[in-house]
Amino acid sequence: MAGIRIDNLVVGYGAEPVISDLSLDIADGSLFTLLGPSGCGKTTLLRTIAGFIPVRAGKLFFGDRDVTDLPAYRRDIGMVFQDYALFPDKSVYDNVAYGLRARNVPEATIKTTVGEYLERVGLSAFAQRMPAALSGGQRQRVALARALAIKPTVLLMDEPLSNLDAKLRVQVRETIADLQRQVGITTVLVTHDQEEALALSDRIGLLRLGKLEQVGGPEDLYARPVSAYVADFVGAANTLNVELSAPTTAGALAHVALEGANLQAFAPAALPAGKAVLIARGETLKLGPAANDANSIPCTVRRRQYLGGRTSFRVATASGREILVEAHGAVPGLAAGDAAALRFDPAQTLVVAS
Ligand SMILES: Nc1ncnc2c1ncn2[C@@H]1O[C@H](COP(=O)(O)OP(=O)(O)OP(=O)(O)O)[C@@H](O)[C@H]1O
Ligand SMILES: [Mg+2]
Repeated sequence: MAGIRIDNLVVGYGAEPVISDLSLDIADGSLFTLLGPSGCGKTTLLRTIAGFIPVRAGKLFFGDRDVTDLPAYRRDIGMVFQDYALFPDKSVYDNVAYGLRARNVPEATIKTTVGEYLERVGLSAFAQRMPAALSGGQRQRVALARALAIKPTVLLMDEPLSNLDAKLRVQVRETIADLQRQVGITTVLVTHDQEEALALSDRIGLLRLGKLEQVGGPEDLYARPVSAYVADFVGAANTLNVELSAPTTAGALAHVALEGANLQAFAPAALPAGKAVLIARGETLKLGPAANDANSIPCTVRRRQYLGGRTSFRVATASGREILVEAHGAVPGLAAGDAAALRFDPAQTLVVAS
């Protein structure tokens, strides 16, 4: 086992690099997720770690081992793909045994190892089935067993759940989480599904056009996004363009003018005066009767939806900006058309660069 270190990596296909000067440390035994929209370079980075794409510049280490110039087959990786990539003409058993046979492991050891990993993914009874006779979720479990049976140094997974329907996705997600923890293997998972990333990861790297926009734990990205891009991608957030009349200090409350009111919001980083973005999650906002509440602005309720565990409001500010507010349970009063006060929590409202 080993962690992964990426130093100043540059990777590309054509003239323009897809990954430019990317550095990243992935702790030994952790599950790291590369998250981001289509085309941002997730697969490119994962395949570079695997050794399928040569680097233009930079270094790649598995633990102390410099693997930058090693071909994929010598990097000792396990891979799981979106489309399972099982051998269709081999049984479940032979699929899982494949990598072990390629490494000339004795048949008796293969039998024990394949048995062990099929049990871990809950498919002991399916050893003799052919892949065509399995469900998508079962196929992906076989792929996972096959990748882990060779006891690789790192496990790399590219959108392993995206071909599964919603219910199976959650089930296989649990299998991945349990197995990764039991085996303790350093894992890099690629996904564009933010819920999957939040649920599974020790740490997440959010990519934007081949650069890491933010790296942190799930709560860091959700509660302390460094930019409107992160806030938008990880969960729904209200993002409001504002003008700062004075520079902000990193890690302190700042004054932000919004709709004629002077609000306090938290500035994670120092910002110059000028354009900035206010970020507020719907569940951190409070609606009350129109009154002169501290840190609030007047608004009008446009829509109210009772959703069981929560009530969702869409409100409009005086200048017509729409803001979503999520309240726990049922909220008395306040119907569409009512005037109200929208209160911002200074600690949970962020002001970041635009
Ligand atoms: N073999 C290739 N040759 C040329 N350009 C490529 C190749 N593969 C990917 N690209 C380009 O590199 C960029 C990053 O692609 P990549 O496949 O890494 O994105 P991704 O984040 O995995 O996206 P998705 O979520 O759609 O899978 C894209 O602009 C893509 O068009
Ligand atoms: Mg991809």
